[in-house]
Amino acid sequence: MSDLSPASETAIEFDQVCKSFGLRSRKHMVLNHISFSIPRGKTTVIAGGSGQGKSVILKLILGLLSPDSGRVLVEGVNVPSLGKRELRRLRTRFGVLFQGSALFDSLNVFENIALPLRERTKMSEDEIREKVLATLDQLELTGHDEKYPAQLSGGMKKRVGLARALQLEPEIVLFDEPTTGLDPVMTQEIYHLFDRMQKRLGYTAVIVSHDIPGVFDLADQIILLNKGEVDVFADSSEIIHSKKPYIREFAEMTMGESLPRPEKENCLT
Ligand SMILES: Nc1ncnc2c1ncn2[C@@H]1O[C@H](COP(=O)(O)OP(=O)(O)O)[C@@H](O)[C@H]1O
Ligand SMILES: [Mg+2]
Repeated sequence: MSDLSPASETAIEFDQVCKSFGLRSRKHMVLNHISFSIPRGKTTVIAGGSGQGKSVILKLILGLLSPDSGRVLVEGVNVPSLGKRELRRLRTRFGVLFQGSALFDSLNVFENIALPLRERTKMSEDEIREKVLATLDQLELTGHDEKYPAQLSGGMKKRVGLARALQLEPEIVLFDEPTTGLDPVMTQEIYHLFDRMQKRLGYTAVIVSHDIPGVFDLADQIILLNKGEVDVFADSSEIIHSKKPYIREFAEMTMGESLPRPEKENCLT
């Protein structure tokens, strides 16, 4: 942990962040003075329509993009102010699992998972073997270590991707639409496995997802992005009861079946 870490329970904080793309006349403001906090050791889900800036938020956290203004704090450190070297060091504290799992086709499951340990640590081959096999067990992949990505089901690929992301024992794990390509049943299974891993290891999870409302079951906090602004909720029932028209619209579109019936109908019964 950094010396600069605050004693607070906040892992990540956005403070009045603006981010736009394009030149002056065609400027597209993606994030417009947004502020929110992500609690440490919990799961935060970021939701919102396509193109609303969900992936941009993850890239700002990793320092892959810089904000136009505002602060992006990770454990109290302002990411945009970091130099290349500090940024590299900061990134070692993260695990990332983005769409497609990004496995190396020419490496088998064991080698894919061992890669960060071989590249970033001085662990011996025996130690690596022990650690990788333990992770395989945790992620219900025992016995699949010699398979190549092409031989794996979609759900297995996601699990291998997570296994690899967890090897360096990250404090924060970022997921960007991690269930892309999975059917709804597998999607829920994967999320429950991810949830068990988060609870077991205690990292801060940030999940960008369109698997709504299913993914809300995991969330300790939900951030909804809409037209450059954010709304923060403790759980999905807060979303359901929101009076804001665009949130009602979002809820109706994505959570239709779980919404309470309009009051007028209730009055008739
Ligand atoms: N590197 C970039 N250059 C230009 N525009 C970008 C860039 N990254 C994202 N955008 C734009 O920002 C908006 C939000 O993108 P993104 O965060 O990827 O959306 P999503 O919520 O679907 O993840 C989109 O309009 C996208 O075109
Ligand atoms: Mg995206």
